[in-house]
Amino acid sequence: MHLNELLDVILRWAHLIAGIMWVGNSMLFNWLDRNLEKSAELSRLSQGKIFMVHSGAFYDVEKKLLEPGEMPAMMHWFKWQNFSTWATGISLFIVVYYMNGAGVLVDPSVHDVDKGVAITLSISALVTGWIIYDALWRTIGESNPRLATVISVVMLFGSIFAFSQFFSGRAAYMQTGVLIGTLMTGNVWFCIVPSQHELINATKAGRPQDPTLSIRAKHRSIHNNYLTFPLLFIMVSSHFGSATSSKYNWLILILVMIGGAGVRHFMNIRYRGGGKELPASAWLFPAVGMGAFAIAGLMIVTRIDRATVPEIEKPVSFSRVQEIVANRCVTCHSARPSDTMFPAPPVGVMLDSPQQIKMMATRIHVRAVEQQNMPFNNRTGMTAEERGELHRWFIDGAKIVDSPPDPSR
Ligand code: HEC
Repeated sequence: MHLNELLDVILRWAHLIAGIMWVGNSMLFNWLDRNLEKSAELSRLSQGKIFMVHSGAFYDVEKKLLEPGEMPAMMHWFKWQNFSTWATGISLFIVVYYMNGAGVLVDPSVHDVDKGVAITLSISALVTGWIIYDALWRTIGESNPRLATVISVVMLFGSIFAFSQFFSGRAAYMQTGVLIGTLMTGNVWFCIVPSQHELINATKAGRPQDPTLSIRAKHRSIHNNYLTFPLLFIMVSSHFGSATSSKYNWLILILVMIGGAGVRHFMNIRYRGGGKELPASAWLFPAVGMGAFAIAGLMIVTRIDRATVPEIEKPVSFSRVQEIVANRCVTCHSARPSDTMFPAPPVGVMLDSPQQIKMMATRIHVRAVEQQNMPFNNRTGMTAEERGELHRWFIDGAKIVDSPPDPSR
């Protein structure tokens, strides 16, 4: 196995596990918070109790502040799940998008830019993104959170547009995802964890905790809550070529992000505390509506932007198709690819023999004619004419009959 692929599999696997642990924890604590039951018998410092059944016994959990001196010796924190998600994610981003000559980050048909410039831009967008966001929320955000929210959303959507003009489609999505993940991780380590430290110190000293820190932590955890669903969409977006390689890929991403955050919103308001829930009509239908908004945005925009190919008058022979595929696709899609970026055929797709081409005909048509996002970043320089020829061959039935007779038969 090639080193790059080895790093890819290790990091991707670890990233998935860490991400599930982090997001899972955060969902569980959100749910707990919203379902706490308050009652008169509880102590002054209690914020509510909850009773659960899981794994063969009952859990009797209380959320509360502590009297000074009540501090237990053993305390469980939940911060490493977030850190390991971010660390594996950033490393994976480097392996996939920066290594291999940044061949996945840069698409010359979007913007022909030097790989060093592209990598520098990608890194500086992450660093300055955090600095601006954090500064915004430490200043305007503290006095006028609504205004800061509007500014943040405008800046995020603006960045998506800028990334889409500069990076390859997939990279524009992933760069947005890494930016969001970095902001969320910054929120945990620079705002939420310090607020928890302050809570512990204040409890030990028997004084009230500094409200600025806890309000800041509250804002940031709300942001993390709303960013989760959009982030998860981005993480699987490279499977949706018609979204990432569309001319309006930025608009699609913005619509999906609005829909994803909307679904989360209606899930959030579902629980009213004390075991009470809103009726399904008040949260489930709007949540489904927001999901539908996201998916419809995805479909409508990719439809509007459907690529066209030149009309080919005469039927196209299979030997011509084989020639096109050999020149434009087989550098990667072969048992032994010649493109050094792909030591093994990408996603196992090989187009060496007529039978393999026949078997993949529909996907070849989808990727090279409808979506036009194959060849990958058009590294082999396929022409519009050639796409037209593939289309003509496909609509005539994708036949391989005029191929030379197989000598082994
Ligand atoms: C520079 C390398 C490269 C070249 C050249 C290339 N591909 Fe790909 N192909 C990839 C990579 C990477 C993937 C996996 C990522 C993806 O699906 O976008 C892939 C995936 C695919 C898939 C499988 C995924 C699916 O949607 O079913 C098909 C089919 C495909 N390519 C067709 C083609 C065709 C047809 C050509 C020639 C016109 C071509 N590719 C040229 C790199 C390449």
